[in-house]
Amino acid sequence: MTYKITFLGHATWSLDIDGHTVLIDPFFNGNTLTEVSPDDVEADFIIVSHGHGDHVGDTVAIAKRTGAKVISNFEIGNWLMNTHGLENVHQQHLGGGFQHEFGHVKLTIAHHGSGLPDGSYGGSPAGLIITAASGKSAYFLCDTALFKDMELYAGPDVALVPIGDNFTMGPDDAVEAVKLIKPETAIPCHYNTWPLIEHDGAAWADRVTSETDAKGLELKPGDSFTLED
Ligand code: NI
Ligand code: MN
Repeated sequence: MTYKITFLGHATWSLDIDGHTVLIDPFFNGNTLTEVSPDDVEADFIIVSHGHGDHVGDTVAIAKRTGAKVISNFEIGNWLMNTHGLENVHQQHLGGGFQHEFGHVKLTIAHHGSGLPDGSYGGSPAGLIITAASGKSAYFLCDTALFKDMELYAGPDVALVPIGDNFTMGPDDAVEAVKLIKPETAIPCHYNTWPLIEHDGAAWADRVTSETDAKGLELKPGDSFTLED
């Protein structure tokens, strides 16, 4: 059983779950934190959390090149099919889970926006809980404010938490989020991409370790974290 999570900077992740490659929010063009190119990145599945450009990113080009199945909310799925001609799309919505080949994906509440880059309506933004056949689970909060109902999603093995402030939770609210979610490990994201969201990921991880029951872990872009069975 494999569940490997690789950080590609900003809020872009590549998962290897039992041999399936799953890209989350594949933002490469414009992502200052990675050299990975959308022209050769691998994907069997792509998950898009919400409609903003730094999350939809290079989804269309990568999906067309690789044939990857795109998983998103209903409105983004329609936009990908009707505006961009993608055919391999799986639409879900908040609160709904589905057992995909690589694992179970549930879309959670996220408090944020979801307008698409061309101004189209992108429905509601989502977080993601992705559970492998091994039972190991990761909660990608994606772009969101702090909200008390995060405690409904408590108990993942790892939480991937935005800390950049301005567009999402900042470091203080992100520590509070970890207290509600109670993961084994908490990893920061959505920071340092631009001056507006510059923060110290290592310092935040240290705060998590000292102020919560979780272990904080900073991943540099390109680094991986593996959930051990
Ligand atoms: Ni956003
Ligand atoms: Mn964002």
